[in-house]
Amino acid sequence: MSILLIASDKGGVGKSTTAVNLAVYLSQSGKRVILFKAGKDKALLNWQEKRQKQGLPVIPVQEAYGNIAEPITKAARLADVVIVDCPGFDNAEYRSALTVADVFITPIKPSSDFEAETLTDVTATVRKAQKMGNTKLRPFVLFTRVKHNRTATAAELAKELKSDDVWLRPLNTRIGELTVYEDCANIGAGVHDVDRASSLGKAKAQIELLANELGLVP
Ligand SMILES: Nc1ncnc2c1ncn2[C@@H]1O[C@H](COP(=O)(O)OP(=O)(O)O)[C@@H](O)[C@H]1O
Ligand SMILES: [Mg+2]
Repeated sequence: MSILLIASDKGGVGKSTTAVNLAVYLSQSGKRVILFKAGKDKALLNWQEKRQKQGLPVIPVQEAYGNIAEPITKAARLADVVIVDCPGFDNAEYRSALTVADVFITPIKPSSDFEAETLTDVTATVRKAQKMGNTKLRPFVLFTRVKHNRTATAAELAKELKSDDVWLRPLNTRIGELTVYEDCANIGAGVHDVDRASSLGKAKAQIELLANELGLVP
């Protein structure tokens, strides 16, 4: 069992996209996965509803609010991986999930200064959670929605983050800006549910590398 917390203060950075694609890939790899919804928006529920209509294999979605440490720990007893999709850094859901998570990722679009600026706050909250006793927590920054002409910006930010141990380490795997992610999510799928689409091989490889780098699959 393993609890993966995906959180960010910003909307639209790809939290839910990363969550559902990892969930689909891990399920196909034989893992029991539970998606956990800690925000009020309906994205995961709508995705699951579309998924059912398509006849795709069910991935359970659970929800809880406030102090979610206990509900996610309980879910983790029934699953190999619990993926918590958590909007915002300034709420009880985020703070409580941080106390029990094994892996934390905060997705950011490296070309956005607004997003990079959130890293100071998130780093402080994560380091505090580690000091307060969650010593198993492995925290990372995930670059998402990276446009092919913006890879230099990503490399620059990665270098900055690696220059001082206080910062959260950026993952080597990056998620590109690819329409296939959006097209799949729109039909309740992950990229591993479909057979043909433009840039599908690239998207699948990114999700597989991410799962591997996070230690969720061998
Ligand atoms: N890597 C990506 N490439 C293309 N579109 C993406 C990518 N990640 C997310 N999107 C799209 O951007 C929008 C916001 O993504 P979402 O995962 O819902 O963000 P969040 O959960 O952080 O608010 C959605 O329409 C989604 O399909
Ligand atoms: Mg979302």
